[in-house]
Formats: sequence, C-alpha cells, structure tokens
Amino acid sequence: MTADLQQQVIDVCREHDIIILCDEVYRLLEHDDDVRLPPIANVYEKGISCVTMSKPWGGCGITIGWLACQDMSMIQQLIDVQYFGCACVSRASEIQGRMVLQVSETILKERREIILQNKALLQDFIENKYKEWFELNRPNAGAICFVKFKGPCTSEQLGKLLADVSISIKLAYCFTDEISLEVENYFRVGFGEKKMPLALDALGKFIDNHEEQWRKCS
Ligand SMILES: Cc1ncc(COP(=O)(O)O)c(C=O)c1O
Repeated sequence: MTADLQQQVIDVCREHDIIILCDEVYRLLEHDDDVRLPPIANVYEKGISCVTMSKPWGGCGITIGWLACQDMSMIQQLIDVQYFGCACVSRASEIQGRMVLQVSETILKERREIILQNKALLQDFIENKYKEWFELNRPNAGAICFVKFKGPCTSEQLGKLLADVSISIKLAYCFTDEISLEVENYFRVGFGEKKMPLALDALGKFIDNHEEQWRKCS
C-alpha cells in the first residue's frame, strides 16, 4: 500500500469512527526503505498494529507477537483474552524473543540481503531465461510473490507435476474461493531462504524437460 492510500483509509475510518486492525507482520522487509509505511498505531488514534516474531526476524518457533495501539481499552474491547492469550507464555520463548530483538538490526540486514539476492535470481530466471513460460508480479516487500504460468495447464496441474520432483508452490486456490480463468494460472513462491537458488535450479531442469511438450500443446 502506498502512503497516500494508507492516509485515505485512515481518513475514511476516522470519519466513520472505525478501528483499523492492521496486519503488519511483513513490515521491515521492504526491499527499499523509502516505501516503508509508519505502523498504523503511530498514525491513527484508533489503529492497532499486529506484529509477530516469525516474519522479519525469522523466529517462527518463538510463537510470540504483539499488538500495539494508543489506547489499551480498544484491545480489551476487541480481543477475547482467553482465546487469544494464555495463562503463561513460554519462558524459553520470551528469552529467545529478547535475544532476537537485541540484535534486530543485524538479523534484518541479513534477511534483506538474502531476499534481495534471491529476488535478483528469480527476476533473471523468469524475466530472461524462462520468460516464454512465466510472468512475474515484482514484489516491493517481503519474500513471497505471485507468478503467472503461461504454459498449457493451470497452476494446479503444474503444482502436481512439481510436487513429484519435490518442488512446492502455493496454488491459486489457496488464495481465492473462485478460480476464474483470470487467476487459475497464478501461483505463489517464496524466496526468503538461503537455499532458494537450489529450488530454482531444480525448476530450471523441470522446465527443460517439459518445454518441448508444452510448445506442442500451446
Ligand atoms: C500476513 C500474515 N499475518 C500473520 C501471520 C501469522 O504469523 P505467526 O505464524 O507468527 O502467528 C502470517 C503467517 O504466515 C501471515 O502470513
């Protein structure tokens, strides 16, 4: 979302006295710092920012996150504490969470370097080497993106073939209840892991083995 759009959303919500609960778990993973938005809790008096250790810091097993806002009573109104909270957070997770946050800058820098390197590889793969078969929706934040398959089958059929060679993609049906012709060829890939180039190599071999057949069907 652009800063202008964020402001428009705030203006509408302020006019109608609406609370905004904003999932900001991918914040801090912008590929360019200039596109980073302020947390909603900083810029809107009825904004609640939702953050988790699992995304920018890669601390999935820590299972700790937080909500931030300017007025705690909003959180009490909204959240059923018994359901969302627990009597006692794991002490080991708390210690790990604090350790991670103490070196936050170092971790974020490393994460971003991996993401930017992998993004460049993915762009080269899709926009140069295999542009006959794919189209990339270039992301400007995070480590996942949408890709369109231009070959003669849907992303679901492609996903089944890829699963046979141990490559995992998230298919269009994971993101919508209605699979139209417009979306059926799209799938999601992740590029946030160091070993992602290995997956690209495997995908390249898979395409090399299939493209002759795809050309005949197209
Ligand atoms: C957009 C978004 N919000 C929230 C979450 C939940 O994060 P966690 O697993 O740390 O609770 C996820 C996890 O994939 C996510 O993608």
